[in-house]
Amino acid sequence: MATIFAKTDFLSTLRAYAPWAVACVCLYSLLKAVYNVYLHPLSRFPGPKLAVASLWWQAYFDVWEKGSLSLKLVELHATYGNIVRIGPNQLHFSRPSAYHEIYSSRNRWSKDSHLYDAYVDTSSRSTFTLLDYESAKKRRDFTMNLFSRKSILEVQSLVQECVDEMCDNIDDHIANKKSINFRRAFRCCTLDTICSLCFGCTTNALSASEFRSPVEHALETALSIRRIFKHIPGAMTLILRIPPDLLTYLQPDTKGHLEMNKMLVEQVRGIFANPQTLANADHPTVFHELMKAKDQSIFSEQAFLDEAWLFLFAGTDTSSDALTVGTLHVLGDHHVYAKLMKELLEAWPKLDDRPRYETLESLPYLRAVVKESLRFTHGVVTPLTRVVPPEGAVISEEFIPSGTVVSMSNIFVHTNEEIFPDPHAFKPERWLGPAAGSLDNWLVSFGKGSTELHRNQSCALRDVPRLREPLPSVRHAAEWCEPVGLALGRRVHACV
Ligand code: HEM
Repeated sequence: MATIFAKTDFLSTLRAYAPWAVACVCLYSLLKAVYNVYLHPLSRFPGPKLAVASLWWQAYFDVWEKGSLSLKLVELHATYGNIVRIGPNQLHFSRPSAYHEIYSSRNRWSKDSHLYDAYVDTSSRSTFTLLDYESAKKRRDFTMNLFSRKSILEVQSLVQECVDEMCDNIDDHIANKKSINFRRAFRCCTLDTICSLCFGCTTNALSASEFRSPVEHALETALSIRRIFKHIPGAMTLILRIPPDLLTYLQPDTKGHLEMNKMLVEQVRGIFANPQTLANADHPTVFHELMKAKDQSIFSEQAFLDEAWLFLFAGTDTSSDALTVGTLHVLGDHHVYAKLMKELLEAWPKLDDRPRYETLESLPYLRAVVKESLRFTHGVVTPLTRVVPPEGAVISEEFIPSGTVVSMSNIFVHTNEEIFPDPHAFKPERWLGPAAGSLDNWLVSFGKGSTELHRNQSCALRDVPRLREPLPSVRHAAEWCEPVGLALGRRVHACV
C-alpha cells in the first residue's frame, strides 16, 4: 500500500514539475543561443544565425536534410567570405594558405572531440581518434614502420595478387556478359589488400559474385550511419553492445561488420594467447608492430582491435574512391586514355610480364593520372577539426582565440582556380608542366602535417603512385574495358 502511495506521489510530483523543467531547458537553450550569436568571443565572425546559435544546425543538415556539409560550405563562403562561423565555437576557412596554417606539421593541435568521437566504438581509442597529438604519435610510431617505402616494396606481390584476383573476377563478368560495378570491385580490392597487408588474412571479398561482399557492404553502411551518430554521443558504442544475433536481425546490413569483428577478435585473442603464432606469418603485419609496445595503453587486445578497424576504415574507401574516379575519367577521355596506354604499353609490353612497382613509379603520365585522381576525390571531404592552442593563433590574417575549433575541407584547396585552373576538368597534364613541382604542396588528399603515417607515404607519393593502391590494374582495366565497353555499351559507365 505504502509503495503505491509513494509511486503516485512521485508521478504527481513529476507531472507538476516536468513543465517547469522543460521550460528551464528551453530558456537556458534560448539564452545560450542569444549569447552565442551576440556575445560569444567569435561573434565578430560572420555565419548563418542558426549555425552560430547552436550545433543543432549541423545535426539538422546532416540528419534531416541529408545534405553535404562540404558543398553547403561552398555556398556559405560565397556569401560570407573567407572565414565562416559554422558552429557556436567553430570556424571554417576557405583561403588555401589557411590550410597550411591549420594543418602545418609544426602545429601539434588537438583534434576536436565532436567529430572524432563519432568514430569511437568502444571505451578506448585508435591512432585516429586519440585527440591529443602526443598520444596519437606514440601509437602511430609503431605502425609507421609497416608503411615505409622499404616495407612496401617488399610486399608488392601481395598487392599484385589482389589485383590479379580482381581482374580474374572481372574477366568472369565479361565472359558472362554481366555489367561491372567498378566501385564495388575496387572497394573489394582495397579491402582484401589491406587485410592481407595489415593482418595477414583475407575476407575473400574479391571472389564474391558481383563483388557483393558482406564486409564491403557493412563498411559502406557504417560510414553513412556515422554521419548521423556524430550528433548522438555514445550511440555507436550503445549499438555495438546489442547482442550480435539481435543486431543482425534488426539491421541485416551489419552482418559483415560482425563477421569481420569476429575474425579480428579471434586473431587478436590467438596472438595474445600464443604470440608465437606471429612467427609463422609470411610478412610483418600491424600486429607484429604493435607487439613491440611495452605501454599497457597500446599492448591490449582492445587497442589491437581498435587499430585494426582503423586500418580497414581508413584505407578502404579512400583508396578505392581514387581508383574508381581515376578509372572513370581515364575511360571517359580518349586523349587521356590513349596517352596513358601508350606509356604503359612501352613500359609493359607483355601483359603477363608484370613490371615491378619501381618501374611503374617512374612513368610520368601514370603518376600524373594518380595525382589528378587523388585531387578529384579529395581524400576526405569532411572538414577535419582542430582546436586552437591556449596561446591562440593567426589564421587567414585573423587572430583566432584559444579553444576555437577550426577546419578547412580539402575541396577548397583542390578546386581553387588560382592553383588548379579549370579545377573541375580532369587534366593529368597539370602535374607535368614546369610549375608542377610546386603543385605537390597543394595536393592535400592525405592531409598535411600531423598525420605522420601519411607523411611517410606522401613522400613516396611525391615521386610515385602509392604502392598500397593496386595501380597495376590501370593497364589491365584499360584492356578489358574496351571490349566490355563495346559489348555492354553505356551500362559499364552507368554502374561505376
Ligand atoms: C588514397 C588513399 C588515402 C587517402 C587519400 C587517405 C587520407 C587520409 C587522411 C586525410 C587522414 C587524416 C585524417 C585526420 O587528420 O584526421 C588519414 C589518416 C589515416 N589513414 Fe589514410 N588515406 C588513404 C589510404 C590509407 C590506407 C591504404 C591506409 C592503411 C592501410 C590508411 C591509414 C590511415 C591511418 C591509420 C590514419 C590515421 C593516422 C593518424 O591519424 O595519424 N590510409 N588518411
